[in-house]
Amino acid sequence: MTVVVAGPSKASSDIARGIAEAMGSRMVTVESKRFPDGESYVRIPEDLGGEDVIVVHTMASPQDRSVMELAMLVDAARGLGASRVIAVAPYTAYSRQDTRFLPGEPVSIAVVLKLLYASGSTGFATVEIHKEHSLRYYPGKAVNVRPYTFMARSIGLGGDLLVLAPDQGAIPRAEGLARSIDAEYDYLVKHRDRVTGEVVIEPKNIDVDGREVLIVDDIISTGGTIAKAAKSLLSMGAKRVNVMVAHLLGIPGSIERIASSGVERIYAAYTLPRVDDPRVSYIDVSSLIAGEVSRGFKL
Ligand code: R5P
Repeated sequence: MTVVVAGPSKASSDIARGIAEAMGSRMVTVESKRFPDGESYVRIPEDLGGEDVIVVHTMASPQDRSVMELAMLVDAARGLGASRVIAVAPYTAYSRQDTRFLPGEPVSIAVVLKLLYASGSTGFATVEIHKEHSLRYYPGKAVNVRPYTFMARSIGLGGDLLVLAPDQGAIPRAEGLARSIDAEYDYLVKHRDRVTGEVVIEPKNIDVDGREVLIVDDIISTGGTIAKAAKSLLSMGAKRVNVMVAHLLGIPGSIERIASSGVERIYAAYTLPRVDDPRVSYIDVSSLIAGEVSRGFKL
């Protein structure tokens, strides 16, 4: 019997509950507090001897604390005698620093994944990591859950939609979704200046005139990428632009920036704390995570 341990945040505990329900498993809530100097304390108040354990904790802001809490919970589960411990991070922080863009930089995602392995996890799962090949930095088995088709089916999207990747890196996301809902897909070309950080969308000859467009991306951070893409699509005659992402960070001003570019709706998987905004629709992907984790780790 698998036990699901919920990390110490509302989002983590909501997602963990969904996973536990979908798997028909017991869920354990952890004790947590902060020491006067700011360090985190966590404790799993139940026996886990001989169990397969899934520890669910999303790496929301403050990310460093969330990463540390997840690693400590993995260690705590091993200390309680769990036989296998799978760390499930619905959102994996630091995944965009997946290479040394400039000399002297760390590969931050490698640091995070190696920490989780060194803490005693025997497997790792996440929802739509920025680049799937980053999972090679995790020395054990790792599962990347792609949420877009599940999300599109939950909302009932399909048909005449043009699915659009905001850059070439996102083409597999757009292509995979488009194929599964029998829609067309295309992409825009994005260039990011590594030093200034400025994002430039170069005009492409995409016939979006009169089309309903769904931009698919892994993450909304500042909202700059989506806002620029949407503006350019609407200026090319798109009838409507909506957005689907795996992770909505909820950085202040990001939704406003996207809405003022003309986007009507943002569909976000529930992987991070909810932003209370009528323009955002969250989709519960916990049952999808449960299925992929069960299959991937033969639970
Ligand atoms: C970039 O490669 C990512 O896939 C996202 O497009 C990007 O990180 C989103 O960031 P922002 O919302 O700040 O433009």
